[in-house]
Formats: sequence, structure tokens, C-alpha cells
Amino acid sequence: MKAYGTGFTTGVFDLFHVGHLNLLERCKERCDQLIVAVCDDDYVRSVKHKEPVMTQEDRMRIIGNLKCVDRVVPITVAEVENKLLCWEKYRFDVLFSGDDWKGSERYRKTERQFARVGARIEYLPYTHGISTTELKEKIARR
Ligand code: CTP
Repeated sequence: MKAYGTGFTTGVFDLFHVGHLNLLERCKERCDQLIVAVCDDDYVRSVKHKEPVMTQEDRMRIIGNLKCVDRVVPITVAEVENKLLCWEKYRFDVLFSGDDWKGSERYRKTERQFARVGARIEYLPYTHGISTTELKEKIARR
């Protein structure tokens, strides 16, 4: 018996790497059905100020074919910034997020909003030593 029925998590997942896989596998260990929302290209450009290497369509295809993922959906800037909009669409029991967000103003607000609708937030450990940014830098140095 897993801790939750439906779990939800989000990310860009550009240049898919083992930090992404660790996170998604940990999410799936905690819920029966895992929904992964992949950020759109506009989010990468306007919020991260980067050009995505892989399009949202390709990033979604990769995520959607992982055995730890049950459903892949797109997510807009507005939905990333207000996770209640996501909860209204998908009615998940838990939002999983990297522990680098714990204690931030946005997440403290989301915790209060979720408490009112009976949803939880669980923070999972970030894998240090790898990220899309670090991979791009490594490739550029070669
Ligand atoms: N993540 C993680 N460990 C990593 C990298 C990412 O647990 N080493 C998690 C993030 O916390 C997030 C999800 O994976 O929940 C998607 O992260 P994303 O922003 O796509 O990954 P990064 O590789 O960190 O990208 P960037 O370097 O562009 O910020």
C-alpha cells in the first residue's frame, strides 16, 4: 500500500538526466498514479531565461515513456506559479517538489492553499552534482 493515490510533480526535464530519474522514481514509490506536468517552452524562455534544447513536445514524449510515469501533461507559466490551478484540473492527493523549494514564500502559500482542499506537499531530495545547466556547461567545455 503506497502513501498516496494520485501524485503530481512538475519540471522542465530538458536533456533528461539521472537527477530527473531519481526524482520521478521517488515520486512513484510514494503514489499509485504519478502525473508529471512538463513546463512549456515559453516558461523556459520567460522564467528561466534560457532557450530549451529540446521542445516541450519531445520532453513530454520522453517523460511519458518512463515506467515510473502514468500520465504526462503540459503546464503553463500561470499554472507553475499557482499550483491550485493544477489541483483544480487533476485533483491529486500530493504535490511532490524538490527540497530546494522548501520554506520559500511561494511554497508556504501553496501549503496553506492546499491545506484548505485537503492536498499535501512532500519535498523530495534534490540530486546534487547534476543538472541540465551543468550538463550544458560540461558539453560546452569539451
Ligand atoms: N531535480 C532533482 N535533482 C536534480 C535536478 C532536478 O531532483 N539534480 C528535480 C527538480 O527539483 C525538479 C525536477 O527535477 O523537481 C525537474 O527539474 P528541472 O528544472 O527540469 O531540472 P534541472 O536539471 O535542475 O534544470 P536547470 O539546470 O535548467 O535548472
